[in-house]
Amino acid sequence: MAVRSVFRSDLFSRKVAIVTGGGSGIGKAISAELLQLGCNVVIASRKLERLEAAATELKRNIPESSVPAQVTPIRCNIRDEEEVRNLVASTLKLHGRIDFLVNNGGGQFSSPAAGMSLKGWNAVIDTNLTGTFLCCREVYNSWMRDHGGAIVNIIADMWKGFPGMAHTGAARSAVDNLTKSLAIEWADSGVRINSVAPGTIFSKTAMENYKEIGPVLFQKAVPCIPAKRLGFPEEISPAVCFLLSPAASFISGATLKVDAGQSLYNAVWEIPEHTAWPEAPEGENTQALREIVKDFKSKL
Ligand SMILES: NC(=O)c1ccc[n+]([C@@H]2O[C@H](COP(=O)([O-])OP(=O)(O)OC[C@H]3O[C@@H](n4cnc5c(N)ncnc54)[C@H](OP(=O)(O)O)[C@@H]3O)[C@@H](O)[C@H]2O)c1
Repeated sequence: MAVRSVFRSDLFSRKVAIVTGGGSGIGKAISAELLQLGCNVVIASRKLERLEAAATELKRNIPESSVPAQVTPIRCNIRDEEEVRNLVASTLKLHGRIDFLVNNGGGQFSSPAAGMSLKGWNAVIDTNLTGTFLCCREVYNSWMRDHGGAIVNIIADMWKGFPGMAHTGAARSAVDNLTKSLAIEWADSGVRINSVAPGTIFSKTAMENYKEIGPVLFQKAVPCIPAKRLGFPEEISPAVCFLLSPAASFISGATLKVDAGQSLYNAVWEIPEHTAWPEAPEGENTQALREIVKDFKSKL
């Protein structure tokens, strides 16, 4: 069952959007909402079969009022420059315009930094950072430079670093910065570009990415979320629609956190008790603290 959008049903009537990773999770929710609002949507990612199944499901859920809106699956690995060129060219051939780009496609795996291979590191950087750059550049050069448009990049809660997934933390932080650079470089084309930084957002596909540790990862996040529950893709989508809409006409280069305050609260990573830290410089204050601790212990 499709979640009903809070926005006006013809808000994006006759507009055209590309949503990378639009066949699952957050991207699918964004695509569903855009379609509800009358937007034509091209969903793009590597697994064509899954994209086609998602397109069929999305099509079934387009309300009567938005029926002219079309959803089209196009295979594209965002890491591959040629495939990104083809995605943009095919969208223009099909619809003759591109109003919106949502860079949502991406992924990572869980590993301490010390155990990451160069191949694994590069794969995450290539997808989450370079893939986003390639999509932005191609859409700009092929359409938005002359016609304007709006871009939203999906990043992550990496504001206190991202221990356990340092590669994606580095890539998302770089996209946050890329967003700011492009907001300035492309302002004179009428292009607005912003990011959305989700907290921990549950979908079956998101959980399955982490294989057998997936359920534990998501479960462990709950106490660290002020809402004391996980977020859902349909809670990210309205933020993206808002940033694409005329309601955000004066917003560019910004990142909107959609995380129920998670980024302000506890981190999941636990630091074990240890004595590895360098000693504090010896002086009257270390002496005073030692006395207080000794006194406290003697009263126990
Ligand atoms: N769920 C969360 O808690 C959370 C939090 C912060 C940020 N994010 C980010 O939000 C985005 C959506 O994630 P999700 O939670 O909705 O998980 P998801 O369902 O696994 O979505 C990831 C999507 O990215 C696509 N993708 C991956 N690599 C790609 C590539 N090289 N080229 C094109 N598409 C690619 C996947 O499709 P194919 O496999 O078909 O390529 C898939 O549709 C991801 O970038 C994710 O890292 C998620």
